[in-house]
Formats: sequence, C-alpha cells, structure tokens
Amino acid sequence: MSLLEVRAVAKRFGGLQAVSDLTFGMADGEVLGLIGPNGAGKTTVFNLLSGFLAADAGEILFRGRSLRGLRPHQICHLGLTRTFQIVRPFPHLSVLENVKVGALARTASARDAAARARRVLEEIGLLAKAEVPAGELTLAERKRLELARALATEPVLLLLDEVMAGLTAAETERIVELVRAINRRGVAVLLIEHVMRAVMSLSERIIVLNYGERIAEGPPAVIANDPRVIEAYLGEEYVGAAQG
Ligand SMILES: Nc1ncnc2c1ncn2[C@@H]1O[C@H](COP(=O)(O)OP(=O)(O)OP(=O)(O)O)[C@@H](O)[C@H]1O
Ligand SMILES: [Mg+2]
Repeated sequence: MSLLEVRAVAKRFGGLQAVSDLTFGMADGEVLGLIGPNGAGKTTVFNLLSGFLAADAGEILFRGRSLRGLRPHQICHLGLTRTFQIVRPFPHLSVLENVKVGALARTASARDAAARARRVLEEIGLLAKAEVPAGELTLAERKRLELARALATEPVLLLLDEVMAGLTAAETERIVELVRAINRRGVAVLLIEHVMRAVMSLSERIIVLNYGERIAEGPPAVIANDPRVIEAYLGEEYVGAAQG
C-alpha cells in the first residue's frame, strides 16, 4: 500500500481554479519535490493534504485511510505534518515552548513533551536558543524552529513549504543536510521549494504544477530538461546556468 494517494483532487477559489484534477502518489520514505511558478497552487495542495482546506472534488488517502472531513490536528495525529510558508511561531513563548506545542500531539505529559522538544532542538541545532523568546530569532532560526515544531509531532510524512526561502547559501545547505538526515530516519518528505539546487539534490522525483495543473513529473534530471517546465517555470536563464 502506498503512503499517500491523491486522486483527482480539485480546489476552486471563486473564479480561480487553484488545483485541477491532481493525481499523484507517494511511497514510504520517498522525497518528492513540488515545484512551479508563484500562484501555481503548491501551498493549496498542502492545505488540502493537511486538512486546512476541504477539496471540492477527489479523494486523499493517507496510509490507506481517507482524510475526508478530518481536522488538521487529527491528520497530524495520523502522522502527516506540514510547515507553514509564512512562519508564525508564538513570539512570546520560548523556542522550547513552541516545540513543546508540537510534541503535545504525541503525549499528554508536559514533562515528556519538554524532553522530546529538547531532543528535537538538539538535532536541529537550536538547543542553545531553547529559552529565547521565538520572536527574537533570525529568519534562518525561525525556519529551523518551524522544522523542529513539525518534527516534534513525529511525522511519517512531512510537508515542507519553502523552508529554505530567504536563507543564505550556507543556511540553505544546513537545511538540506537536516532534511536528508530526517529522511534517512524513514520520514517521507514532500518538498515545496523555489531553491532549485536544493530541490533537485533532495528529490527522487519532482512534480511540476502550473495554473493548478500538473505539467510534468519525473526524476530531477528529466524535469530540468523538460521544455514545458523550462518555459513555464525554470526559464532560459536556468538552462544556461545548468549547462554551466
Ligand atoms: N484562501 C484563498 N482564497 C482565495 N484565493 C486563494 C487562497 N489561497 C490561495 N489562493 C489563490 O490560489 C492560487 C494558488 O495559490 P498558492 O498559494 O497555492 O500558490 P503557490 O504555488 O503556493 O505560490 P507561491 O510559490 O507564491 O507560494 C493563487 O492565485 C492564490 O492567490
Ligand atoms: Mg506557496
């Protein structure tokens, strides 16, 4: 049985078809990239998968179970957790408290949640900031906090929405290594990312969305050379850069 099955899912906002007849699947432990121009519908797909929006049509199955009608916290409890493109930690709570909120998805004990949160912060490299109010973090640290908060829920499938946006090359490389380490532990990752070097190196397979429709799907090397993808998204400049 596959981990995730998305079958003919659609979502419209007024006159705008944000996601159209989208079908794809994911295997256990896979890293799948989801790319496409601004407004292509990528975050909307995450909202549908994580229960923040209801689909107009279609079906989403996670570990063989329909997600129809489930609330975000219920979906998270099943093992599907997402990060947010616009990161909004509780600014007055400490970094540790923010991650504890995630950990409480798995335990009712505040002490267990704190211990789990510390372990995740150590893995993410934020333990030194555990007592700092989240509002005082840099952007790169807030992105890592968002990742830590999601990891603390112990996902089977982690949806990452532009966790590298706005970071320096060195900060991006650090997140790439973190995502790799998370995946090595068996967590499947669905990755929305505009940083092509990162998405190409992490993903086993990439789906390209444009105006809510899948225009291509395949391994990174094939996607990078697909004329439809280049025209809709990557652009001539990218081709030039890729060819060095
Ligand atoms: N809740 C909403 N209500 C109305 N329109 C929305 C809503 N959410 C998204 N949209 C619209 O749906 C389209 C797809 O948006 P979405 O955020 O999914 O794009 P995206 O691929 O994530 O883009 P980006 O790369 O800029 O993050 C856009 O035109 C957006 O304005
Ligand atoms: Mg988005």
